Amino acid sequence: ILYLVSCILYLVSPISYPSSYYLCSMLKTTLIKAAEAGAKQIKHYFNGAFSISHKEGMNNLVTEADHAAEKAIIDVIRQEYPDHFILSEETGELKTESEFKWIIDPIDGTVNFSNGIPLCCVSIALEKNGEMLLGCVYNPLMDEFYFAQKGMGAFLNDKKITVSNKTEVIKSCLVTGFPYTYLDAPNGPLQVFEKLVRRGVPVRRLGSAAIDLCWVAAGRFDGFYEHNLQAWDSAAGFLMVEEAGGKVTDFKGNPYSPYQPHLLATNGNIHDELRSIINGAAF
Ligand code: IPD
Ligand code: CA
Ligand code: CA
Repeated sequence: ILYLVSCILYLVSPISYPSSYYLCSMLKTTLIKAAEAGAKQIKHYFNGAFSISHKEGMNNLVTEADHAAEKAIIDVIRQEYPDHFILSEETGELKTESEFKWIIDPIDGTVNFSNGIPLCCVSIALEKNGEMLLGCVYNPLMDEFYFAQKGMGAFLNDKKITVSNKTEVIKSCLVTGFPYTYLDAPNGPLQVFEKLVRRGVPVRRLGSAAIDLCWVAAGRFDGFYEHNLQAWDSAAGFLMVEEAGGKVTDFKGNPYSPYQPHLLATNGNIHDELRSIINGAAF
């Protein structure tokens, strides 16, 4: 019966009925094309010659490759969807009235990239009316393409991924990141790091928040936290973790928003314990 109803709806209204399905698959095609265009620039410049300039903070870099990757990504999106809102790290906002917003980090892990460390990626998310719909994180140097779609799961190179099942912080393997400018605050990045490391918890620092989040989604890490992120660092990775069965909040436990700096992403089991440690609880 359902099949018959779908066929009738399709015949009666071929534009509106299947439109959301087709729109989503068209958006996905554009997302993948844009990520591949950006990744091509990463591969082109990696270990080669490129100019480097400094943003705020001595080691907060931007290279010729960041700009080239960003242009390639935006060109693809603009060609297909000229009226969509774009928020991209180096360009800022290309504002429109659209319900769709593309959130782009052309190279996440620029310091790694500029040192020839193959831990960097293109990160692109698509938000619709404030809800994250699609996300992809592509590290072409490790051939790892992560993709997530709201309600449809998270994938690494087309294979479904899920978060780990550890239940205690003391037995977990964590990852974090540090801001380019020293953040001196109670329960700041170094205090939290020290507390965990003093108890012997392995806490890695990869240098790419988007990859950190994907590695939580893939179960390689049990949790990730960072004190000062931007929307482009976390938007795609957030969807990856959520769709892989994990949990993402701010440090107060509020639902994830790309527009606030604190981020805690875990397999879900260790979330409350790690959150209380980050907020100053004894450990
Ligand atoms: C940085 C990376 C790093 C994180 C920084 C980010 P960038 O992004 O994600 O892991 O610790 O907070 O700014 O500058 O390489 O795009
Ligand atoms: Ca970034
Ligand atoms: Ca960047």
